[in-house]
Amino acid sequence: MKLLGKPRSRTAALLPLCLLFLKILQPGHGHLYSNRYAGDKVIRLIPNTEEEAYALKKICHKLKVDLWQPGSIFYVSEGTVTDVHIPHNGSQALLAFLQETNIQYKILIEDLQKALEEGSSLPTQRSRRSLSGYNYEVYHSLEEIQHWMHHLNKTHSGLIHMFSIGNSYEGRSLFVLKLGRRSRAYKRAVWIDCGIHAREWIGPAFCQWFVKEALLTYKSDPTMRKMLTHLYFYIMPVFNVDGYHFSWTNDRFWRKTRSRNSRFRCRGVDANRNWRVKWCEEGASTYPCDDTYCGPFPESEPEVKAVANFLRKHRKHIRAYLSFHAYAQMLLYPYSYKYATIPNFSCVESAAYKAVNALRSVHGVQYRYGPASSTLYVSSGSSMDWAYKNGIPYTFAFELRDTGHFGFLLPEMLIKPTCTETMLAVKNITMHLLKKCP
Ligand SMILES: *[C@@H]1O[C@H](CO)[C@@H](O)[C@H](O)[C@H]1NC(C)=O
Ligand SMILES: *[C@@H]1O[C@H](CO)[C@@H](O)[C@H](O)[C@H]1NC(C)=O
Ligand SMILES: *[C@@H]1O[C@H](CO)[C@@H](O)[C@H](O)[C@H]1NC(C)=O
Ligand SMILES: *[C@@H]1O[C@H](CO)[C@@H](O)[C@H](O)[C@H]1NC(C)=O
Ligand SMILES: [Zn+2]
Repeated sequence: MKLLGKPRSRTAALLPLCLLFLKILQPGHGHLYSNRYAGDKVIRLIPNTEEEAYALKKICHKLKVDLWQPGSIFYVSEGTVTDVHIPHNGSQALLAFLQETNIQYKILIEDLQKALEEGSSLPTQRSRRSLSGYNYEVYHSLEEIQHWMHHLNKTHSGLIHMFSIGNSYEGRSLFVLKLGRRSRAYKRAVWIDCGIHAREWIGPAFCQWFVKEALLTYKSDPTMRKMLTHLYFYIMPVFNVDGYHFSWTNDRFWRKTRSRNSRFRCRGVDANRNWRVKWCEEGASTYPCDDTYCGPFPESEPEVKAVANFLRKHRKHIRAYLSFHAYAQMLLYPYSYKYATIPNFSCVESAAYKAVNALRSVHGVQYRYGPASSTLYVSSGSSMDWAYKNGIPYTFAFELRDTGHFGFLLPEMLIKPTCTETMLAVKNITMHLLKKCP
């Protein structure tokens, strides 16, 4: 741990940040986010017929629910569920409707504000934690993650190089870590991004975990050593920096970027619907207030454009694209936008199968795997499909824990088990790349 612990001076520098953080989230009345989720509920909707699905779609639109699985809008199919976050003033109406129509449902979270404040997905006792070395078992703010990156860039310059690929809409740097031994002139590479969607906090936590594990184990673990010798890893711990920041300061359940719209008051674009691949077709919205808004044109978001430019420039040697989301416990591969199997399906499928088995071997947690369209839902303009279409043969999206019990409020206690098992899956996929696919 010493390897990655912070020197004292760094810790001291972080203290004012922690205090600032607490101040932002607790503006006087002791409630996080100004108590804005008091009385809100999260409800799982389980339609059993097309008519029920249609009725749900209508009422949810009317009541302006926040879909926690956007795109999965009320499919009548086994295994696909729709979780909705309903504001307090709409929950009575929704529950009455569900009882009246006899549509199956389950209340996942009774009071979202309470869950948020009790659920320890919030940063408690942060100053104590930051005094005892870097803690990978808490969620970190954007500022903390960027400090951490700068710190590693200084202290591990033999393995890590940090650079910026551009700026976000609000002018923040889009930082990437290049990780690997400079062992030969030409190396293949793996791209990993986390936090395309702001509220999926376990994503950035995993990206940090991956880097920590790589640095701690590459000397002792032959697999990791092989990975860092034969490959470079480009790791972008927070893709949607503006949105992530906003999810800490204003709205815990913010998903999109923070760009302004010229004609609507609603802000933000879904950074996973903004790519130039079947842009804005099925599973994306043209309405700027929707959570799956595809944006005014492909790559309209500076974050998406920066990553797309980087991948275009380096596509010859980038062999895999991995993107981390939450929640659903799934390992997905193309296509998202249509029901069809990709060419060389068997190589990708067997990589996914093995990765999911490796993951399960740690804590017994089951992941489903398959093409995103048939396993999760159809969506167009996704980064995974785009990367695949642009010549990266292995492209995957992880939907990490859990399956809805905590949803986006995955407690910090579960960061370690989630990241430990995911680590094994990522190592397994990566080793698969180094072999010739049978
Ligand atoms: C709930 O309150 C919000 C804002 O206060 C309002 O925009 C919305 O229309 C209300 N919804 C219902 C169902 O009354
Ligand atoms: C990372 O460190 C190198 C020197 O080792 C420096 O040139 C580079 O600017 C640093 N990256 C950032 C983003 O500060
Ligand atoms: C990948 O996982 C499979 C089991 O699913 C296992 O047999 C194999 O040894 C793993 N490979 C690596 C390199 O971890
Ligand atoms: C499929 O595999 C063949 C042979 O291994 C390879 O030449 C081709 O580029 C692959 N196609 C895709 C889309 O990955
Ligand atoms: Zn996501």
